[in-house]
Amino acid sequence: MKVCSALVRAEAAVDGSAVVVEGRAVAAARGSAPAAVELAVALARDAEAVDACLAGLQPGRLGGIGSAAREHLLSGGKRVRPLLTCAVLRACGGEPAPHLCAISAVELVHAASLLHDDIIDDAPTRRGRPAAHVVMGTHAAVLAGDYLVARAFEDLGAAGQPVLQARLAQAVTELCEGEALERARRFDPAADLEHARLVNRLKTGALFGYAAEAGATLAGAPPATRAAAREYGLRLGEAFQIADDVLDFEGSPGALGKPVGQDLAQGAITVPMALALALEPALGGAVAACWGEGGGPDAGRLAAIAARVRGVGALAAARDLARAEARRARAALAELPAGPWRERLSRVADEVAERGT
Ligand code: FPP
Ligand code: MG
Repeated sequence: MKVCSALVRAEAAVDGSAVVVEGRAVAAARGSAPAAVELAVALARDAEAVDACLAGLQPGRLGGIGSAAREHLLSGGKRVRPLLTCAVLRACGGEPAPHLCAISAVELVHAASLLHDDIIDDAPTRRGRPAAHVVMGTHAAVLAGDYLVARAFEDLGAAGQPVLQARLAQAVTELCEGEALERARRFDPAADLEHARLVNRLKTGALFGYAAEAGATLAGAPPATRAAAREYGLRLGEAFQIADDVLDFEGSPGALGKPVGQDLAQGAITVPMALALALEPALGGAVAACWGEGGGPDAGRLAAIAARVRGVGALAAARDLARAEARRARAALAELPAGPWRERLSRVADEVAERGT
């Protein structure tokens, strides 16, 4: 089953019966309330519509690079950000259908950021496949990312959404700031929890915040509701990224699509590592030794550090921080109109904090 996103998958938690929407199996719990199934089906249809919109990207005069950008865009991804926009839009009383290109713009930016991030990190794989820069070369991957960003802003302009254009520009700036900040403190064992959390807020929270606010904006919601949606998305993004940081220490390569311990191997002090260093400063010696290895740390050394990070309780403490962000996200929802979509968004916050893969 292709899972569209955490938002859709959520209904699968109870047991495994499936609803099929346009050939795609959508998780829906047997015996779950008809309203819950309706929500899952609506989001699955939104995912189909977003995919169709993204598939319309034309290579144009970029030729092979444009085709590669399109292939990267369509090569997987859970569409979490555009579906977040759809869910908030519906919670605020709107319908996604008239706004699909504007909604999809956030996925273009996200896909571009991954293209560039894999170059910056010199990552060999993405989503279990060779990274785009490995396949097409660095120059082509840079241009493909640039093209996707340009298309996002062009699409918002064509949709007559200058406010979203400005908001997305702000989010992209924050993404760049997050990436730059992370880069600046690479291989710095003094990078602490405050640093790790700021990086997360900028590199992930900003785009989630944009996505949620975009839903409220497209629904024509008042400023207070738009601000609350942004706060919800920001907190959700932080919970999402902390869970991601934890998975880097506890996931398996098959499930993650990339080797375990890669954040640390790349010199990043993420939330669990910062917590572990605060709880057991002696771990700093092992981290420095692992970074000091020529050719990068071996899997055994990374696994030993991961075991110590878990042993001092840092993974559990990081999960607690993710849960706290999820609670803040849920609290922000009070400004949104009450109803099944607001309930759904509330459950999503918890699921994101607990997410396994
Ligand atoms: C992946 O997260 C990367 C990001 C969330 C942000 C990357 C941002 C940039 C490259 C700057 C903005 C660029 C554009 C084109 C908008 P991660 O590094 O935590 O995860 P990973 O393990 O998948 O690399
Ligand atoms: Mg990265």
